[in-house]
Amino acid sequence: MSGPNTSFDPKQVSSLNAAAVEAMVSDAMAAILAAVDLADLKDVRLAHAGDRSALALANREIGALPPAAKADAGKRVGEARAAVKAALEDRQTALEGERDERVLAEESVDVTLPAVREQVGGRHPLTTLMERVCDVFVAMGYDIAEGPEVEAEWVNFDALNVPPDHPARTMQDTFYVTASDSGVVLRTQTSPIQIRAMLDRPLPIYVVAPGRVFRTDELDATHTPVFHQVEGLAVDENITMADLKGTLDHFAQEMFGEGIVTRLRPSYFPFTEPSAELDVQCFVCRGASVGNPDQACRTCGSEGWIEWGGCGMVNPRVLQAVGIDSEKYRGFAFGMGIERTLMFRNGVTDMRDMVEGDVRFTRAFGLES
Ligand code: DAH
Repeated sequence: MSGPNTSFDPKQVSSLNAAAVEAMVSDAMAAILAAVDLADLKDVRLAHAGDRSALALANREIGALPPAAKADAGKRVGEARAAVKAALEDRQTALEGERDERVLAEESVDVTLPAVREQVGGRHPLTTLMERVCDVFVAMGYDIAEGPEVEAEWVNFDALNVPPDHPARTMQDTFYVTASDSGVVLRTQTSPIQIRAMLDRPLPIYVVAPGRVFRTDELDATHTPVFHQVEGLAVDENITMADLKGTLDHFAQEMFGEGIVTRLRPSYFPFTEPSAELDVQCFVCRGASVGNPDQACRTCGSEGWIEWGGCGMVNPRVLQAVGIDSEKYRGFAFGMGIERTLMFRNGVTDMRDMVEGDVRFTRAFGLES
Protein backbone atom coordinates (compact mmCIF):
# COMPACT_ATOMS: atom_id res chain seq x y z
CA MET A 1 0.00 0.00 0.00
CA SER A 2 1.37 3.39 -0.83
CA GLY A 3 0.90 6.31 1.60
CA PRO A 4 -0.62 9.67 0.77
CA ASN A 5 1.21 11.46 -1.98
CA THR A 6 2.44 14.57 -0.22
CA SER A 7 3.53 16.24 -3.41
CA PHE A 8 0.02 16.08 -4.77
CA ASP A 9 -1.52 19.45 -5.69
CA PRO A 10 -5.31 19.45 -5.72
CA LYS A 11 -5.36 22.25 -8.26
CA GLN A 12 -3.84 19.74 -10.63
CA VAL A 13 -6.49 17.08 -9.98
CA SER A 14 -8.77 18.47 -12.63
CA SER A 15 -11.99 17.05 -11.13
CA LEU A 16 -11.40 18.86 -7.87
CA ASN A 17 -10.61 22.38 -9.00
CA ALA A 18 -13.21 25.03 -8.33
CA ALA A 19 -14.23 25.50 -11.94
CA ALA A 20 -14.79 21.80 -12.47
CA VAL A 21 -16.90 21.43 -9.31
CA GLU A 22 -18.89 24.52 -10.24
CA ALA A 23 -19.51 23.07 -13.69
CA MET A 24 -20.77 19.81 -12.11
CA VAL A 25 -23.12 21.81 -9.88
CA SER A 26 -24.46 23.93 -12.71
CA ASP A 27 -24.95 20.82 -14.90
CA ALA A 28 -26.88 19.22 -12.06
CA MET A 29 -28.95 22.36 -11.44
CA ALA A 30 -29.88 22.65 -15.12
CA ALA A 31 -30.91 19.01 -15.25
CA ILE A 32 -32.94 19.34 -12.03
CA LEU A 33 -34.80 22.35 -13.40
CA ALA A 34 -35.42 20.58 -16.70
CA ALA A 35 -37.01 17.54 -15.03
CA VAL A 36 -40.70 17.77 -15.92
CA ASP A 37 -42.00 15.01 -13.71
CA LEU A 38 -41.03 12.74 -10.85
CA ALA A 39 -39.79 9.96 -13.13
CA ASP A 40 -37.49 12.45 -14.89
CA LEU A 41 -36.23 13.70 -11.56
CA LYS A 42 -35.41 10.17 -10.48
CA ASP A 43 -33.08 9.81 -13.50
CA VAL A 44 -31.53 13.20 -12.76
CA ARG A 45 -30.88 12.20 -9.15
CA LEU A 46 -29.13 9.05 -10.28
CA ALA A 47 -27.00 10.92 -12.84
CA HIS A 48 -25.99 13.90 -10.66
CA ALA A 49 -26.12 12.63 -7.07
CA GLY A 50 -25.82 8.86 -7.48
CA ASP A 51 -22.77 6.76 -6.68
CA ARG A 52 -21.40 7.12 -10.17
CA SER A 53 -22.13 10.84 -10.59
CA ALA A 54 -19.26 13.28 -11.28
CA LEU A 55 -19.61 14.77 -7.79
CA ALA A 56 -19.48 11.36 -6.08
CA LEU A 57 -16.40 10.42 -8.08
CA ALA A 58 -14.75 13.76 -7.22
CA ASN A 59 -15.56 13.11 -3.57
CA ARG A 60 -13.68 9.86 -3.75
CA GLU A 61 -10.56 11.61 -5.04
CA ILE A 62 -10.35 13.68 -1.85
CA GLY A 63 -9.04 10.75 0.16
CA ALA A 64 -5.94 10.66 -1.95
CA LEU A 65 -5.04 14.34 -1.35
CA PRO A 66 -2.32 15.50 1.05
CA PRO A 67 -3.83 16.69 4.35
CA ALA A 68 -3.22 20.35 3.50
CA ALA A 69 -5.38 20.10 0.40
CA LYS A 70 -8.07 17.85 1.84
CA ALA A 71 -9.94 20.48 3.84
CA ASP A 72 -10.24 22.89 0.98
CA ALA A 73 -11.34 20.28 -1.56
CA GLY A 74 -13.58 18.56 0.97
CA LYS A 75 -15.38 21.80 1.77
CA ARG A 76 -15.86 22.61 -1.92
CA VAL A 77 -17.20 19.19 -2.88
CA GLY A 78 -19.26 18.89 0.30
CA GLU A 79 -20.95 22.23 -0.35
CA ALA A 80 -21.51 21.31 -3.96
CA ARG A 81 -23.16 18.00 -3.05
CA ALA A 82 -25.30 19.66 -0.38
CA ALA A 83 -26.47 22.28 -2.87
CA VAL A 84 -27.39 19.61 -5.41
CA LYS A 85 -29.18 17.58 -2.74
CA ALA A 86 -31.17 20.62 -1.60
CA ALA A 87 -32.11 21.47 -5.17
CA LEU A 88 -33.25 17.90 -5.75
CA GLU A 89 -35.41 18.02 -2.63
CA ASP A 90 -36.96 21.35 -3.64
CA ARG A 91 -37.74 20.07 -7.09
CA GLN A 92 -39.14 16.82 -5.65
CA THR A 93 -41.51 18.80 -3.43
CA ALA A 94 -42.53 21.05 -6.32
CA LEU A 95 -43.16 18.15 -8.70
CA GLU A 96 -45.14 16.21 -6.07
CA GLY A 97 -47.28 19.28 -5.55
CA GLU A 98 -47.90 19.55 -9.29
CA ARG A 99 -48.78 15.86 -9.50
CA ASP A 100 -51.24 16.11 -6.61
CA GLU A 101 -52.95 19.08 -8.18
CA ARG A 102 -53.17 17.34 -11.53
CA VAL A 103 -54.67 14.19 -9.97
CA LEU A 104 -57.19 16.26 -8.05
CA ALA A 105 -58.20 18.08 -11.21
CA GLU A 106 -58.39 14.91 -13.30
CA GLU A 107 -60.34 12.94 -10.72
CA SER A 108 -62.71 15.65 -9.68
CA VAL A 109 -66.41 14.92 -10.18
CA ASP A 110 -68.84 17.53 -11.32
CA VAL A 111 -71.83 16.73 -9.19
CA THR A 112 -73.97 19.15 -11.15
CA LEU A 113 -73.73 17.10 -14.38
CA PRO A 114 -76.94 15.23 -15.28
CA ALA A 115 -76.69 11.59 -14.17
CA VAL A 116 -76.89 8.70 -16.62
CA ARG A 117 -79.78 6.81 -15.15
CA GLU A 118 -79.90 3.01 -15.22
CA GLN A 119 -83.04 1.82 -16.95
CA VAL A 120 -84.98 -0.04 -14.33
CA GLY A 121 -87.96 -2.22 -15.04
CA GLY A 122 -90.84 -2.91 -12.71
CA ARG A 123 -92.08 -6.17 -11.30
CA HIS A 124 -95.10 -7.32 -13.27
CA PRO A 125 -98.31 -6.27 -11.53
CA LEU A 126 -99.72 -9.79 -11.92
CA THR A 127 -96.78 -11.09 -9.89
CA THR A 128 -97.14 -8.49 -7.16
CA LEU A 129 -100.92 -9.00 -7.04
CA MET A 130 -100.52 -12.77 -6.63
CA GLU A 131 -98.00 -12.19 -3.86
CA ARG A 132 -100.42 -9.84 -2.16
CA VAL A 133 -103.19 -12.45 -2.36
CA CYS A 134 -100.84 -15.05 -0.85
CA ASP A 135 -99.90 -12.66 1.96
CA VAL A 136 -103.57 -12.20 2.87
CA PHE A 137 -104.07 -15.95 3.21
CA VAL A 138 -100.73 -16.74 4.81
CA ALA A 139 -101.69 -14.20 7.49
CA MET A 140 -104.80 -16.35 8.14
CA GLY A 141 -102.70 -19.50 8.52
CA TYR A 142 -103.05 -20.88 5.00
CA ASP A 143 -100.20 -22.66 3.16
CA ILE A 144 -99.28 -21.85 -0.41
CA ALA A 145 -99.77 -24.83 -2.72
CA GLU A 146 -98.46 -25.43 -6.21
CA GLY A 147 -99.05 -27.84 -9.04
CA PRO A 148 -97.69 -28.53 -12.50
CA GLU A 149 -98.79 -26.54 -15.52
CA VAL A 150 -98.73 -29.71 -17.64
CA GLU A 151 -101.32 -31.74 -15.80
CA ALA A 152 -102.95 -35.15 -15.96
CA GLU A 153 -106.40 -34.87 -17.48
CA TRP A 154 -107.72 -36.93 -14.55
CA VAL A 155 -106.52 -34.33 -12.04
CA ASN A 156 -107.62 -31.33 -14.14
CA PHE A 157 -111.09 -32.77 -14.87
CA ASP A 158 -112.15 -36.24 -13.67
CA ALA A 159 -111.17 -35.90 -10.02
CA LEU A 160 -112.95 -32.54 -10.00
CA ASN A 161 -116.15 -34.27 -11.08
CA VAL A 162 -115.97 -32.87 -14.61
CA PRO A 163 -117.32 -35.77 -16.67
CA PRO A 164 -115.66 -36.88 -19.93
CA ASP A 165 -118.50 -35.42 -22.02
CA HIS A 166 -118.26 -31.99 -20.36
CA PRO A 167 -117.95 -29.25 -23.01
CA ALA A 168 -114.91 -27.72 -21.25
CA ARG A 169 -112.92 -30.82 -22.13
CA THR A 170 -113.31 -30.45 -25.86
CA MET A 171 -110.48 -29.36 -28.07
CA GLN A 172 -111.95 -25.86 -28.22
CA ASP A 173 -111.08 -25.07 -24.65
CA THR A 174 -108.28 -27.34 -23.66
CA PHE A 175 -104.72 -27.52 -24.91
CA TYR A 176 -103.89 -31.20 -25.13
CA VAL A 177 -100.25 -32.16 -24.99
CA THR A 178 -99.46 -34.20 -28.15
CA ALA A 179 -102.73 -35.96 -29.03
CA SER A 180 -106.21 -35.31 -27.67
CA ASP A 181 -106.22 -38.82 -26.19
CA SER A 182 -102.85 -38.36 -24.48
CA GLY A 183 -104.49 -37.82 -21.10
CA VAL A 184 -102.13 -34.88 -20.55
CA VAL A 185 -103.31 -31.28 -20.77
CA LEU A 186 -102.12 -27.79 -20.02
CA ARG A 187 -104.16 -27.12 -16.89
CA THR A 188 -107.24 -25.08 -17.71
CA GLN A 189 -107.75 -23.90 -14.13
CA THR A 190 -105.97 -23.90 -10.78
CA SER A 191 -108.61 -26.24 -9.33
CA PRO A 192 -106.43 -29.36 -9.97
CA ILE A 193 -104.12 -27.98 -7.27
CA GLN A 194 -107.01 -28.68 -4.88
CA ILE A 195 -106.81 -32.33 -5.85
CA ARG A 196 -103.04 -32.46 -5.42
CA ALA A 197 -103.25 -30.69 -2.06
CA MET A 198 -105.85 -33.19 -0.82
CA LEU A 199 -103.80 -36.14 -2.07
CA ASP A 200 -100.52 -34.87 -0.61
CA ARG A 201 -101.33 -33.13 2.63
CA PRO A 202 -102.61 -34.25 6.01
CA LEU A 203 -106.02 -32.96 7.14
CA PRO A 204 -107.10 -30.33 7.94
CA ILE A 205 -106.09 -28.46 4.79
CA TYR A 206 -105.98 -24.71 4.29
CA VAL A 207 -104.22 -23.75 1.07
CA VAL A 208 -104.12 -20.93 -1.43
CA ALA A 209 -102.73 -21.66 -4.89
CA PRO A 210 -101.86 -19.03 -7.46
CA GLY A 211 -100.84 -20.18 -10.90
CA ARG A 212 -100.78 -19.90 -14.65
CA VAL A 213 -103.58 -21.57 -16.63
CA PHE A 214 -104.20 -22.17 -20.33
CA ARG A 215 -107.22 -22.14 -22.61
CA THR A 216 -107.54 -22.10 -26.37
CA ASP A 217 -108.73 -18.50 -26.54
CA GLU A 218 -107.58 -15.86 -29.01
CA LEU A 219 -105.76 -12.90 -27.51
CA ASP A 220 -108.02 -9.85 -27.43
CA ALA A 221 -108.94 -7.06 -25.00
CA THR A 222 -110.69 -9.44 -22.60
CA HIS A 223 -109.14 -12.85 -23.34
CA THR A 224 -105.69 -14.35 -23.32
CA PRO A 225 -104.78 -18.01 -23.87
CA VAL A 226 -102.41 -17.87 -20.90
CA PHE A 227 -103.70 -16.26 -17.75
CA HIS A 228 -103.58 -16.60 -13.97
CA GLN A 229 -105.96 -17.75 -11.32
CA VAL A 230 -105.83 -18.10 -7.60
CA GLU A 231 -107.51 -21.02 -5.91
CA GLY A 232 -108.46 -21.34 -2.27
CA LEU A 233 -109.32 -24.56 -0.45
CA ALA A 234 -110.21 -25.33 3.14
CA VAL A 235 -111.05 -28.88 4.26
CA ASP A 236 -111.82 -29.48 7.91
CA GLU A 237 -114.49 -30.81 10.21
CA ASN A 238 -117.52 -28.55 10.62
CA ILE A 239 -116.69 -26.18 7.75
CA THR A 240 -119.78 -24.27 6.64
CA MET A 241 -120.73 -21.85 3.95
CA ALA A 242 -120.60 -19.10 6.58
CA ASP A 243 -116.85 -19.76 6.88
CA LEU A 244 -116.56 -19.36 3.12
CA LYS A 245 -118.48 -16.10 3.15
CA GLY A 246 -116.49 -14.68 6.06
CA THR A 247 -113.20 -15.63 4.43
CA LEU A 248 -114.21 -14.03 1.13
CA ASP A 249 -115.37 -10.83 2.83
CA HIS A 250 -112.03 -10.54 4.60
CA PHE A 251 -110.20 -11.24 1.33
CA ALA A 252 -112.28 -8.56 -0.46
CA GLN A 253 -111.45 -5.98 2.21
CA GLU A 254 -107.76 -6.73 2.02
CA MET A 255 -107.87 -6.37 -1.76
CA PHE A 256 -110.27 -3.49 -2.26
CA GLY A 257 -110.62 -1.58 0.98
CA GLU A 258 -112.28 -1.54 4.34
CA GLY A 259 -115.96 -2.38 4.47
CA ILE A 260 -116.08 -4.00 1.01
CA VAL A 261 -118.20 -7.16 1.08
CA THR A 262 -118.94 -10.03 -1.27
CA ARG A 263 -122.19 -11.45 -2.59
CA LEU A 264 -122.87 -15.07 -3.54
CA ARG A 265 -125.27 -15.88 -6.39
CA PRO A 266 -126.41 -19.48 -6.91
CA SER A 267 -124.56 -21.14 -9.76
CA TYR A 268 -123.13 -24.45 -10.88
CA PHE A 269 -119.63 -25.91 -10.84
CA PRO A 270 -119.12 -29.68 -10.98
CA PHE A 271 -116.62 -29.63 -8.12
CA THR A 272 -118.74 -27.68 -5.62
CA GLU A 273 -122.20 -28.29 -4.20
CA PRO A 274 -123.78 -25.90 -3.59
CA SER A 275 -121.94 -23.55 -5.97
CA ALA A 276 -122.03 -19.80 -6.25
CA GLU A 277 -120.84 -16.98 -8.40
CA LEU A 278 -118.82 -14.62 -6.33
CA ASP A 279 -119.36 -10.87 -6.73
CA VAL A 280 -117.46 -8.15 -4.93
CA GLN A 281 -119.06 -4.88 -4.03
CA CYS A 282 -117.84 -2.08 -6.31
CA PHE A 283 -115.03 -0.45 -4.37
CA VAL A 284 -115.37 2.80 -6.35
CA CYS A 285 -119.07 3.67 -5.97
CA ARG A 286 -119.94 1.09 -3.27
CA GLY A 287 -123.32 0.73 -4.92
CA ALA A 288 -124.15 4.45 -5.04
CA SER A 289 -124.33 4.37 -8.86
CA VAL A 290 -127.15 1.81 -8.99
CA GLY A 291 -130.26 3.46 -10.47
CA ASN A 292 -128.51 6.80 -10.18
CA PRO A 293 -127.53 8.08 -13.66
CA ASP A 294 -125.99 11.22 -12.15
CA GLN A 295 -123.38 9.09 -10.41
CA ALA A 296 -122.65 6.58 -13.19
CA CYS A 297 -119.73 4.29 -12.30
CA ARG A 298 -117.33 3.06 -14.96
CA THR A 299 -115.75 0.40 -12.77
CA CYS A 300 -118.92 -1.64 -12.20
CA GLY A 301 -121.00 -0.26 -15.12
CA SER A 302 -123.35 1.12 -12.45
CA GLU A 303 -124.19 -2.43 -11.33
CA GLY A 304 -122.86 -1.91 -7.81
CA TRP A 305 -121.21 -5.35 -7.97
CA ILE A 306 -118.35 -6.82 -9.97
CA GLU A 307 -118.11 -10.51 -10.95
CA TRP A 308 -115.00 -11.82 -9.30
CA GLY A 309 -114.97 -15.62 -9.40
CA GLY A 310 -116.62 -18.86 -8.42
CA CYS A 311 -116.91 -20.71 -5.13
CA GLY A 312 -118.85 -23.25 -3.17
CA MET A 313 -118.71 -26.18 -0.77
CA VAL A 314 -116.42 -28.92 -2.03
CA ASN A 315 -118.57 -31.57 -3.71
CA PRO A 316 -118.48 -34.78 -1.59
CA ARG A 317 -117.73 -36.67 -4.81
CA VAL A 318 -114.45 -34.72 -5.08
CA LEU A 319 -113.57 -35.60 -1.47
CA GLN A 320 -114.34 -39.24 -2.23
CA ALA A 321 -112.18 -39.17 -5.39
CA VAL A 322 -109.15 -38.32 -3.26
CA GLY A 323 -110.04 -40.70 -0.44
CA ILE A 324 -111.26 -38.19 2.16
CA ASP A 325 -114.11 -39.26 4.43
CA SER A 326 -116.90 -37.00 3.18
CA GLU A 327 -119.07 -37.83 6.20
CA LYS A 328 -116.49 -36.42 8.57
CA TYR A 329 -114.92 -33.66 6.52
CA ARG A 330 -116.31 -30.80 4.53
CA GLY A 331 -114.61 -28.07 2.61
CA PHE A 332 -115.05 -24.84 0.77
CA ALA A 333 -113.26 -23.69 -2.36
CA PHE A 334 -113.05 -20.60 -4.48
CA GLY A 335 -111.20 -19.43 -7.56
CA MET A 336 -110.79 -16.13 -9.36
CA GLY A 337 -108.86 -14.68 -12.29
CA ILE A 338 -105.87 -12.53 -11.44
CA GLU A 339 -105.94 -10.59 -14.75
CA ARG A 340 -109.59 -9.78 -14.22
CA THR A 341 -108.89 -8.67 -10.67
CA LEU A 342 -106.07 -6.43 -11.88
CA MET A 343 -108.33 -4.99 -14.58
CA PHE A 344 -110.97 -3.63 -12.29
CA ARG A 345 -108.71 -3.04 -9.31
CA ASN A 346 -106.24 -0.91 -11.28
CA GLY A 347 -108.36 0.28 -14.20
CA VAL A 348 -106.51 -1.75 -16.87
CA THR A 349 -108.88 -1.85 -19.82
CA ASP A 350 -106.99 -4.06 -22.29
CA MET A 351 -105.65 -7.49 -21.35
CA ARG A 352 -103.08 -7.31 -24.13
CA ASP A 353 -101.20 -4.68 -22.12
CA MET A 354 -100.53 -7.35 -19.51
CA VAL A 355 -98.94 -9.83 -21.88
CA GLU A 356 -97.02 -7.68 -24.33
CA GLY A 357 -94.15 -7.04 -21.94
CA ASP A 358 -93.88 -3.31 -22.63
CA VAL A 359 -91.87 -1.91 -19.76
CA ARG A 360 -93.92 1.31 -19.85
CA PHE A 361 -96.87 -0.73 -18.59
CA THR A 362 -95.05 -2.51 -15.77
CA ARG A 363 -93.07 0.56 -14.74
CA ALA A 364 -96.31 2.34 -13.86
CA PHE A 365 -96.72 -0.32 -11.16
CA GLY A 366 -93.01 -0.28 -10.33
CA LEU A 367 -93.38 1.11 -6.86
CA GLU A 368 -95.69 -1.67 -5.73
CA SER A 369 -93.75 -4.07 -3.61
N1 DAH B 1 -112.08 -23.34 -11.68
C1 DAH B 1 -113.16 -22.43 -11.95
C2 DAH B 1 -112.92 -21.75 -13.29
O1 DAH B 1 -111.85 -21.81 -13.81
C3 DAH B 1 -113.28 -21.39 -10.87
C4 DAH B 1 -113.77 -21.94 -9.60
C5 DAH B 1 -115.13 -22.01 -9.34
C6 DAH B 1 -112.90 -22.44 -8.66
C7 DAH B 1 -115.60 -22.54 -8.17
C8 DAH B 1 -113.35 -22.96 -7.48
C9 DAH B 1 -114.71 -23.02 -7.24
O2 DAH B 1 -112.54 -23.44 -6.54
O3 DAH B 1 -115.16 -23.56 -6.07
O4 DAH B 1 -113.84 -21.17 -13.83
